[in-house]
Amino acid sequence: MTKSELLYKRAVKHLPGGVNSPVRAFLSVGGSPRFIESADGAYIYDVDGSKYIDYINSWGPMILGHNHEVIRTAVIEAAQKGLSYGAATEAEVEMAELLCEIVPCFEMVRMVNSGTEAVMSAIRAARGYTRRSKIIKFEGCYHGHSDGLLVKAGSGVMVAGIPDSLGVPSNCVKDTLQAKYNDLDSVMELFEENRDEIAAIIVEPVAANMGVVLPQEGFLQGLRELCTKHGALLIFDEVITGFRLSLSGAQGYYNIMPDLATFGKIIGGGMPVGCYGGRREVMEMVAPVGPVYQAGTLSGNPVAMAAGMAQLKYLKEHPEVYTKINELGEYFRNKVNVLFDKYNIKYQVAGIGSLSCIFFANGKVTDYETAKMADTKEYARYFRFMLEHGIYIAPAQFEAMFFSYAHTYQDIVDTLLVIEQYLND
Ligand SMILES: Cc1ncc(COP(=O)(O)O)c(C=O)c1O
Repeated sequence: MTKSELLYKRAVKHLPGGVNSPVRAFLSVGGSPRFIESADGAYIYDVDGSKYIDYINSWGPMILGHNHEVIRTAVIEAAQKGLSYGAATEAEVEMAELLCEIVPCFEMVRMVNSGTEAVMSAIRAARGYTRRSKIIKFEGCYHGHSDGLLVKAGSGVMVAGIPDSLGVPSNCVKDTLQAKYNDLDSVMELFEENRDEIAAIIVEPVAANMGVVLPQEGFLQGLRELCTKHGALLIFDEVITGFRLSLSGAQGYYNIMPDLATFGKIIGGGMPVGCYGGRREVMEMVAPVGPVYQAGTLSGNPVAMAAGMAQLKYLKEHPEVYTKINELGEYFRNKVNVLFDKYNIKYQVAGIGSLSCIFFANGKVTDYETAKMADTKEYARYFRFMLEHGIYIAPAQFEAMFFSYAHTYQDIVDTLLVIEQYLND
Protein backbone atom coordinates (compact mmCIF):
# COMPACT_ATOMS: atom_id res chain seq x y z
CA MET A 1 0.00 0.00 0.00
CA THR A 2 1.20 3.51 -0.76
CA LYS A 3 1.36 6.17 1.93
CA SER A 4 -1.56 7.93 0.23
CA GLU A 5 -3.65 4.77 0.40
CA LEU A 6 -2.78 4.30 4.07
CA LEU A 7 -3.70 7.90 4.83
CA TYR A 8 -6.96 7.51 2.93
CA LYS A 9 -7.81 4.45 5.02
CA ARG A 10 -7.29 6.52 8.14
CA ALA A 11 -9.04 9.55 6.69
CA VAL A 12 -12.34 7.87 5.89
CA LYS A 13 -12.72 6.85 9.52
CA HIS A 14 -13.02 10.43 10.72
CA LEU A 15 -13.65 12.64 7.68
CA PRO A 16 -16.74 12.07 5.52
CA GLY A 17 -15.36 10.45 2.36
CA GLY A 18 -11.84 11.03 3.69
CA VAL A 19 -11.83 14.66 2.55
CA ASN A 20 -12.86 18.14 3.63
CA SER A 21 -14.40 19.06 0.28
CA PRO A 22 -16.11 16.52 -2.01
CA VAL A 23 -14.30 17.53 -5.19
CA ARG A 24 -11.05 16.28 -3.65
CA ALA A 25 -12.33 12.74 -3.44
CA PHE A 26 -11.87 10.54 -6.47
CA LEU A 27 -15.43 9.23 -6.39
CA SER A 28 -16.26 9.93 -10.02
CA VAL A 29 -12.89 8.77 -11.37
CA GLY A 30 -12.05 5.85 -9.10
CA GLY A 31 -8.99 5.17 -6.99
CA SER A 32 -7.99 6.93 -3.82
CA PRO A 33 -6.89 10.56 -3.58
CA ARG A 34 -3.23 11.45 -3.56
CA PHE A 35 -2.24 13.10 -0.28
CA ILE A 36 -0.13 16.12 -0.99
CA GLU A 37 2.98 16.97 0.97
CA SER A 38 4.18 20.11 -0.78
CA ALA A 39 3.99 22.20 -3.91
CA ASP A 40 6.39 24.50 -5.66
CA GLY A 41 6.03 26.45 -8.90
CA ALA A 42 4.11 24.34 -11.42
CA TYR A 43 4.54 21.10 -9.47
CA ILE A 44 2.85 19.32 -6.64
CA TYR A 45 4.41 16.44 -4.66
CA ASP A 46 2.53 13.67 -2.87
CA VAL A 47 3.49 11.86 0.32
CA ASP A 48 4.92 8.96 -1.72
CA GLY A 49 7.40 11.27 -3.41
CA SER A 50 5.63 11.43 -6.78
CA LYS A 51 5.83 14.71 -8.67
CA TYR A 52 2.99 16.00 -10.83
CA ILE A 53 2.53 18.94 -13.17
CA ASP A 54 -0.37 20.62 -11.41
CA TYR A 55 -3.33 21.96 -13.38
CA ILE A 56 -5.64 22.29 -10.39
CA ASN A 57 -3.63 25.03 -8.74
CA SER A 58 -5.74 24.88 -5.61
CA TRP A 59 -8.78 25.32 -7.92
CA GLY A 60 -7.58 28.65 -9.22
CA PRO A 61 -5.86 30.91 -6.72
CA MET A 62 -2.27 29.89 -7.42
CA ILE A 63 -2.13 32.04 -10.53
CA LEU A 64 1.59 32.71 -9.96
CA GLY A 65 2.28 29.07 -9.22
CA HIS A 66 2.83 27.43 -5.85
CA ASN A 67 4.96 28.78 -3.04
CA HIS A 68 5.70 32.06 -4.79
CA GLU A 69 8.45 33.88 -2.93
CA VAL A 70 6.67 37.25 -2.82
CA ILE A 71 3.55 35.76 -1.25
CA ARG A 72 5.44 33.45 1.11
CA THR A 73 7.51 36.36 2.42
CA ALA A 74 4.43 38.55 2.92
CA VAL A 75 2.71 35.77 4.88
CA ILE A 76 5.72 35.14 7.12
CA GLU A 77 6.15 38.84 7.85
CA ALA A 78 2.46 39.28 8.68
CA ALA A 79 2.38 36.13 10.83
CA GLN A 80 5.27 37.44 12.91
CA LYS A 81 3.03 40.30 14.03
CA GLY A 82 0.17 38.12 15.24
CA LEU A 83 -2.41 36.00 13.47
CA SER A 84 -5.72 37.71 14.11
CA TYR A 85 -6.92 40.73 16.07
CA GLY A 86 -10.65 40.89 15.38
CA ALA A 87 -10.18 44.63 14.92
CA ALA A 88 -9.60 47.00 12.01
CA THR A 89 -6.17 47.06 10.33
CA GLU A 90 -4.36 49.17 7.76
CA ALA A 91 -4.01 46.08 5.55
CA GLU A 92 -7.79 45.94 5.12
CA VAL A 93 -7.90 49.57 4.05
CA GLU A 94 -5.11 48.99 1.54
CA MET A 95 -6.85 45.89 0.21
CA ALA A 96 -10.16 47.75 -0.20
CA GLU A 97 -8.41 50.64 -1.97
CA LEU A 98 -6.60 48.30 -4.33
CA LEU A 99 -9.73 46.30 -5.13
CA CYS A 100 -11.79 49.42 -5.78
CA GLU A 101 -9.03 50.72 -8.05
CA ILE A 102 -8.82 47.52 -10.10
CA VAL A 103 -12.33 46.05 -10.20
CA PRO A 104 -14.49 48.23 -12.49
CA CYS A 105 -17.79 47.86 -10.58
CA PHE A 106 -16.33 48.22 -7.07
CA GLU A 107 -17.01 51.45 -5.22
CA MET A 108 -17.13 49.65 -1.89
CA VAL A 109 -16.15 46.17 -0.82
CA ARG A 110 -16.58 43.80 2.13
CA MET A 111 -14.02 41.08 2.82
CA VAL A 112 -15.24 37.61 3.78
CA ASN A 113 -13.62 34.17 4.09
CA SER A 114 -14.79 32.17 1.08
CA GLY A 115 -16.55 32.37 -2.24
CA THR A 116 -19.65 30.78 -0.73
CA GLU A 117 -19.85 33.51 1.86
CA ALA A 118 -19.22 36.24 -0.72
CA VAL A 119 -22.09 35.09 -2.95
CA MET A 120 -24.48 34.46 -0.09
CA SER A 121 -23.82 37.94 1.26
CA ALA A 122 -24.02 39.70 -2.12
CA ILE A 123 -27.43 38.14 -2.71
CA ARG A 124 -28.59 39.29 0.70
CA ALA A 125 -27.44 42.83 -0.10
CA ALA A 126 -29.21 42.70 -3.48
CA ARG A 127 -32.43 41.51 -1.86
CA GLY A 128 -32.17 44.15 0.83
CA TYR A 129 -31.55 46.92 -1.69
CA THR A 130 -34.32 45.95 -4.11
CA ARG A 131 -36.71 44.77 -1.39
CA ARG A 132 -37.40 41.77 -3.64
CA SER A 133 -36.91 38.06 -2.92
CA LYS A 134 -36.41 36.11 -6.13
CA ILE A 135 -33.13 35.54 -7.86
CA ILE A 136 -32.23 34.02 -11.20
CA LYS A 137 -29.30 31.64 -11.49
CA PHE A 138 -28.20 29.51 -14.42
CA GLU A 139 -28.30 25.75 -14.63
CA GLY A 140 -24.79 24.37 -14.23
CA CYS A 141 -23.37 27.48 -12.57
CA TYR A 142 -21.93 26.91 -9.11
CA HIS A 143 -22.02 29.69 -6.56
CA GLY A 144 -20.90 27.90 -3.42
CA HIS A 145 -22.83 25.63 -1.12
CA SER A 146 -25.28 27.99 0.59
CA ASP A 147 -28.82 26.60 0.77
CA GLY A 148 -30.47 28.93 -1.72
CA LEU A 149 -27.97 28.24 -4.49
CA LEU A 150 -27.77 24.47 -4.44
CA VAL A 151 -30.01 23.95 -7.42
CA LYS A 152 -28.50 22.47 -10.59
CA ALA A 153 -25.26 23.68 -9.16
CA GLY A 154 -22.66 22.19 -11.50
CA SER A 155 -19.27 20.58 -10.80
CA GLY A 156 -19.17 18.53 -7.58
CA VAL A 157 -22.93 18.13 -7.46
CA MET A 158 -23.08 17.08 -11.12
CA VAL A 159 -20.71 14.15 -10.70
CA ALA A 160 -22.01 13.15 -7.29
CA GLY A 161 -25.32 12.54 -9.05
CA ILE A 162 -27.19 14.41 -6.32
CA PRO A 163 -29.81 16.53 -8.08
CA ASP A 164 -30.28 18.84 -5.11
CA SER A 165 -28.70 18.47 -1.74
CA LEU A 166 -30.64 16.79 1.02
CA GLY A 167 -30.89 19.05 4.01
CA VAL A 168 -31.88 22.07 1.93
CA PRO A 169 -35.51 22.84 2.84
CA SER A 170 -37.64 23.47 -0.24
CA ASN A 171 -38.50 26.88 1.18
CA CYS A 172 -34.87 27.91 0.85
CA VAL A 173 -34.85 27.37 -2.92
CA LYS A 174 -38.36 28.46 -3.79
CA ASP A 175 -37.08 31.92 -4.72
CA THR A 176 -34.19 30.58 -6.81
CA LEU A 177 -35.30 30.57 -10.43
CA GLN A 178 -33.34 28.61 -13.02
CA ALA A 179 -32.51 29.92 -16.46
CA LYS A 180 -30.45 28.34 -19.22
CA TYR A 181 -26.91 29.58 -19.73
CA ASN A 182 -26.51 31.36 -23.08
CA ASP A 183 -30.28 31.54 -23.52
CA LEU A 184 -31.62 35.06 -23.05
CA ASP A 185 -35.16 33.96 -23.90
CA SER A 186 -35.22 31.75 -20.81
CA VAL A 187 -34.28 34.81 -18.73
CA MET A 188 -36.87 37.03 -20.39
CA GLU A 189 -39.58 34.49 -19.66
CA LEU A 190 -38.68 34.47 -15.97
CA PHE A 191 -38.83 38.26 -15.83
CA GLU A 192 -42.25 38.17 -17.52
CA GLU A 193 -43.59 35.53 -15.15
CA ASN A 194 -42.19 37.27 -12.04
CA ARG A 195 -42.77 40.96 -12.69
CA ASP A 196 -41.18 43.26 -10.07
CA GLU A 197 -40.17 40.27 -7.96
CA ILE A 198 -36.63 39.55 -9.14
CA ALA A 199 -33.90 41.04 -6.99
CA ALA A 200 -30.91 39.88 -9.01
CA ILE A 201 -29.40 37.68 -11.65
CA ILE A 202 -26.27 35.87 -10.55
CA VAL A 203 -24.04 34.47 -13.24
CA GLU A 204 -20.56 33.07 -13.76
CA PRO A 205 -19.53 35.33 -16.65
CA VAL A 206 -17.55 32.38 -17.99
CA ALA A 207 -19.17 29.24 -16.62
CA ALA A 208 -16.36 27.17 -15.14
CA ASN A 209 -18.24 24.63 -13.07
CA MET A 210 -19.78 22.60 -15.88
CA GLY A 211 -16.45 22.32 -17.59
CA VAL A 212 -15.58 25.66 -19.18
CA VAL A 213 -18.44 27.22 -21.15
CA LEU A 214 -18.00 30.61 -22.74
CA PRO A 215 -20.74 33.22 -22.88
CA GLN A 216 -21.99 33.58 -26.43
CA GLU A 217 -21.87 36.95 -28.16
CA GLY A 218 -24.44 39.29 -26.60
CA PHE A 219 -25.36 37.02 -23.67
CA LEU A 220 -23.77 39.04 -20.86
CA GLN A 221 -24.77 42.34 -22.47
CA GLY A 222 -28.33 40.99 -22.74
CA LEU A 223 -28.34 40.17 -19.03
CA ARG A 224 -27.13 43.68 -18.26
CA GLU A 225 -29.96 45.19 -20.31
CA LEU A 226 -32.63 42.93 -18.85
CA CYS A 227 -31.55 43.75 -15.30
CA THR A 228 -31.57 47.47 -15.99
CA LYS A 229 -34.98 47.26 -17.66
CA HIS A 230 -36.55 45.30 -14.80
CA GLY A 231 -34.88 47.06 -11.87
CA ALA A 232 -32.91 43.94 -10.87
CA LEU A 233 -29.22 43.86 -9.98
CA LEU A 234 -26.67 42.00 -12.07
CA ILE A 235 -24.16 40.04 -9.98
CA PHE A 236 -21.06 38.60 -11.62
CA ASP A 237 -19.67 35.70 -9.66
CA GLU A 238 -15.98 36.14 -10.45
CA VAL A 239 -14.66 33.51 -8.05
CA ILE A 240 -13.01 31.80 -11.04
CA THR A 241 -12.70 34.60 -13.61
CA GLY A 242 -11.59 37.37 -11.23
CA PHE A 243 -7.95 38.43 -11.66
CA ARG A 244 -7.60 35.51 -14.08
CA LEU A 245 -9.36 36.39 -17.31
CA SER A 246 -7.69 39.77 -16.97
CA LEU A 247 -6.57 41.95 -14.08
CA SER A 248 -10.06 43.47 -14.09
CA GLY A 249 -11.72 40.06 -14.35
CA ALA A 250 -14.51 39.13 -16.74
CA GLN A 251 -16.21 42.49 -16.28
CA GLY A 252 -13.10 44.22 -17.63
CA TYR A 253 -12.50 41.58 -20.29
CA TYR A 254 -16.04 41.77 -21.69
CA ASN A 255 -16.52 45.42 -20.75
CA ILE A 256 -19.83 44.83 -18.97
CA MET A 257 -20.51 46.57 -15.68
CA PRO A 258 -22.37 44.45 -13.13
CA ASP A 259 -23.94 46.08 -10.07
CA LEU A 260 -22.17 43.71 -7.70
CA ALA A 261 -19.39 41.17 -8.05
CA THR A 262 -18.11 38.36 -5.88
CA PHE A 263 -14.55 37.08 -5.64
CA GLY A 264 -13.00 34.24 -3.71
CA LYS A 265 -9.81 32.33 -3.24
CA ILE A 266 -7.71 34.28 -5.75
CA ILE A 267 -7.96 37.38 -3.52
CA GLY A 268 -6.10 35.41 -0.86
CA GLY A 269 -3.27 34.03 -2.96
CA GLY A 270 -3.82 30.65 -1.28
CA MET A 271 -5.29 31.85 2.03
CA PRO A 272 -9.03 31.50 2.73
CA VAL A 273 -10.56 34.77 1.49
CA GLY A 274 -13.46 36.13 -0.48
CA CYS A 275 -15.10 39.49 -1.01
CA TYR A 276 -18.16 41.10 -2.47
CA GLY A 277 -18.59 44.64 -3.59
CA GLY A 278 -20.08 47.00 -6.11
CA ARG A 279 -22.20 50.11 -6.31
CA ARG A 280 -21.92 52.34 -3.26
CA GLU A 281 -25.68 52.68 -2.75
CA VAL A 282 -26.06 48.91 -2.64
CA MET A 283 -23.04 48.31 -0.41
CA GLU A 284 -24.24 51.00 1.97
CA MET A 285 -27.14 48.68 2.74
CA VAL A 286 -24.64 46.43 4.55
CA ALA A 287 -24.22 46.60 8.35
CA PRO A 288 -23.12 48.64 10.21
CA VAL A 289 -24.13 51.40 7.74
CA GLY A 290 -27.35 49.75 6.62
CA PRO A 291 -29.90 47.17 7.70
CA VAL A 292 -28.50 44.14 5.81
CA TYR A 293 -26.63 42.14 8.44
CA GLN A 294 -23.43 40.37 7.55
CA ALA A 295 -20.37 39.76 9.73
CA GLY A 296 -17.29 37.58 10.19
CA THR A 297 -14.81 37.06 13.05
CA LEU A 298 -11.89 36.33 10.72
CA SER A 299 -12.96 38.58 7.83
CA GLY A 300 -10.06 40.74 6.67
CA ASN A 301 -7.61 38.54 8.59
CA PRO A 302 -4.18 40.20 8.55
CA VAL A 303 -2.24 37.17 7.28
CA ALA A 304 -4.78 36.54 4.52
CA MET A 305 -4.73 40.23 3.57
CA ALA A 306 -0.93 40.16 3.36
CA ALA A 307 -0.98 37.12 1.06
CA GLY A 308 -3.73 38.57 -1.11
CA MET A 309 -2.17 42.02 -1.36
CA ALA A 310 1.18 40.52 -2.34
CA GLN A 311 -0.43 38.51 -5.13
CA LEU A 312 -2.73 41.26 -6.42
CA LYS A 313 0.03 43.88 -6.40
CA TYR A 314 2.29 41.49 -8.27
CA LEU A 315 -0.41 40.91 -10.88
CA LYS A 316 -0.98 44.64 -11.22
CA GLU A 317 2.71 45.38 -11.65
CA HIS A 318 3.40 42.48 -14.01
CA PRO A 319 0.99 42.50 -16.95
CA GLU A 320 3.27 39.96 -18.63
CA VAL A 321 1.72 37.35 -16.30
CA TYR A 322 -1.51 37.56 -18.29
CA THR A 323 0.27 37.51 -21.64
CA LYS A 324 2.07 34.35 -20.65
CA ILE A 325 -0.76 32.39 -19.02
CA ASN A 326 -3.15 33.26 -21.85
CA GLU A 327 -0.60 32.16 -24.43
CA LEU A 328 -0.01 28.91 -22.58
CA GLY A 329 -3.75 28.23 -22.52
CA GLU A 330 -4.13 28.99 -26.20
CA TYR A 331 -1.10 26.91 -27.13
CA PHE A 332 -2.50 23.97 -25.17
CA ARG A 333 -5.94 24.20 -26.81
CA ASN A 334 -4.47 24.53 -30.32
CA LYS A 335 -2.21 21.54 -29.84
CA VAL A 336 -4.99 19.40 -28.35
CA ASN A 337 -7.10 20.22 -31.40
CA VAL A 338 -4.21 19.15 -33.63
CA LEU A 339 -4.09 15.83 -31.74
CA PHE A 340 -7.85 15.34 -32.00
CA ASP A 341 -7.63 15.95 -35.77
CA LYS A 342 -4.66 13.58 -36.09
CA TYR A 343 -6.51 10.78 -34.32
CA ASN A 344 -9.88 11.71 -35.83
CA ILE A 345 -11.43 12.22 -32.42
CA LYS A 346 -14.58 14.29 -31.99
CA TYR A 347 -14.00 15.48 -28.41
CA GLN A 348 -13.93 19.17 -27.63
CA VAL A 349 -11.28 21.32 -26.05
CA ALA A 350 -12.87 24.45 -24.68
CA GLY A 351 -11.56 27.44 -22.79
CA ILE A 352 -10.45 31.01 -22.71
CA GLY A 353 -7.15 32.49 -21.57
CA SER A 354 -5.70 30.38 -18.77
CA LEU A 355 -8.87 28.29 -18.28
CA SER A 356 -9.29 25.12 -20.29
CA CYS A 357 -11.35 21.96 -20.33
CA ILE A 358 -11.41 18.84 -22.45
CA PHE A 359 -15.00 17.71 -22.85
CA PHE A 360 -15.37 14.05 -23.66
CA ALA A 361 -18.42 15.02 -25.67
CA ASN A 362 -19.03 14.81 -29.39
CA GLY A 363 -20.83 18.11 -29.85
CA LYS A 364 -20.13 21.70 -28.87
CA VAL A 365 -20.93 22.45 -25.23
CA THR A 366 -22.89 25.65 -24.70
CA ASP A 367 -24.93 24.99 -21.56
CA TYR A 368 -25.77 22.50 -18.81
CA GLU A 369 -27.70 20.11 -21.06
CA THR A 370 -24.91 19.83 -23.61
CA ALA A 371 -22.25 19.61 -20.87
CA LYS A 372 -24.10 16.62 -19.43
CA MET A 373 -23.59 14.77 -22.74
CA ALA A 374 -19.92 14.33 -21.82
CA ASP A 375 -18.80 10.75 -21.24
CA THR A 376 -17.71 10.83 -17.61
CA LYS A 377 -16.51 7.22 -17.72
CA GLU A 378 -14.07 8.10 -20.46
CA TYR A 379 -12.98 11.15 -18.47
CA ALA A 380 -12.31 8.82 -15.52
CA ARG A 381 -10.03 6.63 -17.67
CA TYR A 382 -8.27 9.71 -19.00
CA PHE A 383 -7.84 11.14 -15.50
CA ARG A 384 -6.27 7.94 -14.16
CA PHE A 385 -3.91 7.71 -17.13
CA MET A 386 -2.81 11.33 -16.69
CA LEU A 387 -2.26 10.86 -12.96
CA GLU A 388 -0.20 7.71 -13.50
CA HIS A 389 1.94 9.71 -15.91
CA GLY A 390 2.57 12.65 -13.60
CA ILE A 391 -0.18 15.06 -14.66
CA TYR A 392 -2.53 16.28 -11.95
CA ILE A 393 -5.88 17.42 -13.37
CA ALA A 394 -9.25 17.73 -11.68
CA PRO A 395 -10.77 14.40 -10.63
CA ALA A 396 -14.04 15.36 -12.34
CA GLN A 397 -15.09 16.15 -15.89
CA PHE A 398 -16.91 19.35 -15.04
CA GLU A 399 -13.98 21.32 -13.65
CA ALA A 400 -11.48 23.64 -15.30
CA MET A 401 -7.76 23.20 -15.92
CA PHE A 402 -5.87 26.19 -14.55
CA PHE A 403 -2.61 27.40 -16.10
CA SER A 404 -0.27 29.40 -13.92
CA TYR A 405 2.64 31.75 -14.47
CA ALA A 406 4.95 29.01 -13.21
CA HIS A 407 4.04 26.60 -16.03
CA THR A 408 6.51 26.47 -18.89
CA TYR A 409 6.03 25.53 -22.53
CA GLN A 410 8.01 22.40 -21.68
CA ASP A 411 5.38 21.48 -19.06
CA ILE A 412 2.66 21.86 -21.68
CA VAL A 413 4.63 19.84 -24.24
CA ASP A 414 5.16 17.10 -21.63
CA THR A 415 1.44 17.14 -20.88
CA LEU A 416 0.52 16.95 -24.57
CA LEU A 417 2.81 13.94 -24.95
CA VAL A 418 0.89 12.12 -22.24
CA ILE A 419 -2.42 13.09 -23.86
CA GLU A 420 -1.15 11.67 -27.14
CA GLN A 421 -0.10 8.47 -25.39
CA TYR A 422 -3.60 8.24 -23.93
CA LEU A 423 -5.18 8.69 -27.37
CA ASN A 424 -2.90 5.91 -28.66
CA ASP A 425 -3.54 3.61 -25.71
C1 LIG B 1 -17.95 30.49 -9.40
C2 LIG B 1 -17.83 30.04 -7.98
N1 LIG B 1 -18.52 30.67 -7.03
C3 LIG B 1 -18.43 30.33 -5.73
C4 LIG B 1 -17.59 29.31 -5.34
C5 LIG B 1 -17.48 28.94 -3.89
O1 LIG B 1 -16.24 29.30 -3.38
P1 LIG B 1 -15.68 28.61 -2.03
O2 LIG B 1 -15.33 27.22 -2.39
O3 LIG B 1 -14.49 29.47 -1.68
O4 LIG B 1 -16.75 28.71 -1.01
C6 LIG B 1 -16.83 28.63 -6.28
C7 LIG B 1 -15.91 27.56 -5.89
O5 LIG B 1 -15.13 27.09 -6.65
C8 LIG B 1 -16.95 29.00 -7.65
O6 LIG B 1 -16.27 28.37 -8.61
